[in-house]
Amino acid sequence: MSTTNAVQIVGVKDYTFEMLMRIFKLADGYRDALAQRKFEELKVLRNCLAFNYFYSPSTRTRTSFDVAMERLGMIVEWSEAAGQFSKTVQGEILEHSVRIYCGYGADVFVLRHGDDDAAERASVVCKEMGVPFLNAGSGSREHPTQFALDFYIMLQDLMERGLVEQITNRHVLAKRPINLLVSMDPEFGRTIRSVVRGLARFLRPLRVWAWAPSILTLGEDILRELEDLGVPFEGYVTDVRRILPMIDIHYHQRPQYERMSPEKRKIVEMNEPSFKVGLHEMALLGGLLYHPMPIVNEVDRAVDTHPKARYFPQAAWGLPVRMGNLVEVVRR
Ligand code: NCD
Repeated sequence: MSTTNAVQIVGVKDYTFEMLMRIFKLADGYRDALAQRKFEELKVLRNCLAFNYFYSPSTRTRTSFDVAMERLGMIVEWSEAAGQFSKTVQGEILEHSVRIYCGYGADVFVLRHGDDDAAERASVVCKEMGVPFLNAGSGSREHPTQFALDFYIMLQDLMERGLVEQITNRHVLAKRPINLLVSMDPEFGRTIRSVVRGLARFLRPLRVWAWAPSILTLGEDILRELEDLGVPFEGYVTDVRRILPMIDIHYHQRPQYERMSPEKRKIVEMNEPSFKVGLHEMALLGGLLYHPMPIVNEVDRAVDTHPKARYFPQAAWGLPVRMGNLVEVVRR
């Protein structure tokens, strides 16, 4: 099998710190240009062909990739229901579809898929065909470009709060251990899995807590990684209000019911109300609240306008970060 150097972002481990810093620098510039409506300046990937194929639902990720591609001047071939409107319906395998799409001259392939192994499988084909690949969420495994945009705003916030000592060529070094709390669905939440993995790699020192119904646990693979990286997992919190004052980054997520067995779903549904974030929790929180969205019932609507709630700018800056991501992988 032939192989190429085309960049493949399947999981957080495929980013180097240098890549992320380059992406963030690009994103800073794109934010300014977008705000000043200097759209012509942004068209640095004119005539490059992007495939933006989503086999499962999305609000933010597909749209922001689509707008990012358009703003960069790319030709965009997109689908919001790629499985439903392709020969997947008759049983065509993903590898064959991706090979065909790449053969039309793709300069980048962005994929969201419901299967855990889909990103890896598609990436094997893309690599062989010389096409850069970005995983936009695969099953319950990983969502690396979401991590990139999460880290972008978190880093900015940590700097604003005076908590960053130094940015080396491998890590962000904080002045004291940064306390991360992930909550609600650490098991099936691919964004939680990616954010824990990513922060453990790139932010030092870090300590991790989880707050979730007891049948939703962080995967063994993630726990092992934390151990290998020397990042302490402080365990599952029962009395969250006690630890909220020392939490710097609270990363909350809806329960991923669509990935649970009916039995598990029933138990989580019963427990979900105890893990809701409301104004009381926000008042106690020492740091800031992040959420990949969609928000369903796990955050009180009144929190939307709370100054510690960062999920709207988090999503909005996803656009310039995705532009940076595309430029980083297409140009190399
Ligand atoms: C998340 C996802 O699809 O994993 N959304 C997103 O991409 N921002 C989170 C979720 O669905 O709960």
